[in-house]
Amino acid sequence: MEFLFYTLLVSSLSTVAASQCPPTFQQNGTSCYKIMGILASWIEAKQYCNVMGADLAVIEDAGEEKFLEDELRKIHGAGNVGPENYWIDGADFMEKNVWRWMRNDGGSYFIKGYTNWAPGQPDDIGEHCLEIRYSFGIHWNNFNCFQKENFICEVSAELDGGNSIIG
Ligand SMILES: *[C@@H]1O[C@H](CO)[C@@H](O)[C@H](O)[C@H]1NC(C)=O
Repeated sequence: MEFLFYTLLVSSLSTVAASQCPPTFQQNGTSCYKIMGILASWIEAKQYCNVMGADLAVIEDAGEEKFLEDELRKIHGAGNVGPENYWIDGADFMEKNVWRWMRNDGGSYFIKGYTNWAPGQPDDIGEHCLEIRYSFGIHWNNFNCFQKENFICEVSAELDGGNSIIG
């Protein structure tokens, strides 16, 4: 009996230790994601992600975007009208029309290679933050950074978590 108890205890502990993501984040490949249903400006959204040890999501390939699209479709599915817009980490407020993944502490880098802009976006109308817009076919759009929107956080699935570069 005692043996069984300790066996169960040890196996549940090792399940916890093997988890690669912070609590309530979902893993896909080497990243953990959390779609947040809280309305926040872009900079507030980034702070929410930061206090959870994550950052706003950086989307660098189609597989990663597909995972998020599937998750957003679940939120909007079965007759639910889900939120329209979701902040991710891109912005062009450092340099007009030059889009960067902002990261933290000056670690920004250009958005090159994979992009998923909606047709005609980004439009040059003084909107400097990057969102995923559901009604644009779950494509990227530039929008007013001060708008309150839902947002998507991401952190590396590695156990040290936190501040490693994510993709
Ligand atoms: C990530 O999500 C996509 C889309 O849901 C899925 O096709 C893919 O298998 C997932 N990748 C991993 C490594 O789980």
